Amino acid sequence: MTKANMQKPIAKSYDKIAKEYTNQHGYGEQLSIPSLKTFLTFLPIQAKVLDIGCGGGQDSKFLTDNGCSVFGIDVSKKMISLAKKFAPKTNFKIANVMKLSATNKYDGIWCCRVFQHISINEQDKFLNKLSTLLKKDSILYITSVVSDKNEDYEAFDSGNDGLLKKRLTAKSFKNLLTQRNFKILKFSYWVGKKGMEIFAKKP
Ligand SMILES: C[S@@+](CC[C@H](N)C(=O)[O-])C[C@H]1O[C@@H](n2cnc3c(N)ncnc32)[C@H](O)[C@@H]1O
Repeated sequence: MTKANMQKPIAKSYDKIAKEYTNQHGYGEQLSIPSLKTFLTFLPIQAKVLDIGCGGGQDSKFLTDNGCSVFGIDVSKKMISLAKKFAPKTNFKIANVMKLSATNKYDGIWCCRVFQHISINEQDKFLNKLSTLLKKDSILYITSVVSDKNEDYEAFDSGNDGLLKKRLTAKSFKNLLTQRNFKILKFSYWVGKKGMEIFAKKP
């Protein structure tokens, strides 16, 4: 399957569930607030932040309200339309991160609940792309779904139009970053032990 083929269903699926998703997880849940606060402590003042797969824009809004200059991107046009309404002061665009030019570099990347949709085959390319978008000594925040087996695997959700959900072991997730010489500043499980998050510094 080509990259273009993979991204289309993701955009379409999230277009379909944008309202439901943002009401349930975006605007309703506030799950990311403690992590967003930690993220801010690692960033310089008025940091330039890229929010990849920003969804309805709730995290972008929090970062904008706390002094960051945020660019939120998402492949789903419905998500971006909701985000623009929710956070009118933030700059949003319908875009696939893989197509983003690396001429603009960021002090921080916020990539929350997106990496699970990137297949094991594509994840190296994805992380390399993120690396090109980051300045030296900048901060990457990234989450993953935790594998319930002793290995990494991919499955398709029964709901959400069969979206791809990749599961990683904590060891693999950490390795993906340390292999690229990122320094892990903080690792935690979240959402019980279903998810995990990493704050890492780019070399
Ligand atoms: C589970 S939602 C997470 C939304 C938000 N970050 C949050 O935590 O609530 C995943 C989002 O990532 C977007 N997405 C997936 N792959 C992407 C890509 N390659 N570039 C930009 N957005 C992407 C989807 O359209 C979707 O809105």
